[in-house]
Amino acid sequence: MAGFNVSEKALDFIRGCTIDFDPKTGLSKTVQTGKRYLSQMSGMFADEAALQAKVAENDEIIYEFHGLPVPEHEGDLAFGCSIVNPGKVGDEYYFTKGHFHTILETGEVYYCLKGHGYMLMENPEGDWSAQELRPGEAVYVPKRYAHRSINVSADEQLVTFFVFRADAGHDYGTIETKGYRKLLVERDGKPAIIDNPNWK
Ligand code: NI
Repeated sequence: MAGFNVSEKALDFIRGCTIDFDPKTGLSKTVQTGKRYLSQMSGMFADEAALQAKVAENDEIIYEFHGLPVPEHEGDLAFGCSIVNPGKVGDEYYFTKGHFHTILETGEVYYCLKGHGYMLMENPEGDWSAQELRPGEAVYVPKRYAHRSINVSADEQLVTFFVFRADAGHDYGTIETKGYRKLLVERDGKPAIIDNPNWK
């Protein structure tokens, strides 16, 4: 995760500091969120026409995230919250863009605070996994796996708290270009995994 604004208090992190996170919203009085709107998700969903129709009707926020400006050095830990709103584009649930880490050999932990979702993961060799997430459950994202948070609730936000090595960096471009091998769609009112017809 990246993109944040912080108050001077948050800059105390080098000496140790306490940050508030509301478990119901994932929000912090100290840290502002970065926001992703539907219009910024062009090319990410299988049904681009359905996405553009939604953008024309209401270009709403699809997800938010925040983290502290922890120095991107070996040994430091980056952390923050991800907040995915409920909704669908066509039959595909709202999700975060998803990313590999620039340092591919990087694991990450996501702890679910609220909602119902999945962490969809895949590695460059083609192995993939979809781990269901409910409040109180943590998912371990192994090194080498891209990861995307997906909200399958009809009416509730998916809120997760994440921690990873601060020098890992983010590679969004690979997913933006290739897409994910698998998609999480609604079938008969339930989440189902299908092959991505547009995967390159
Ligand atoms: Ni990550």
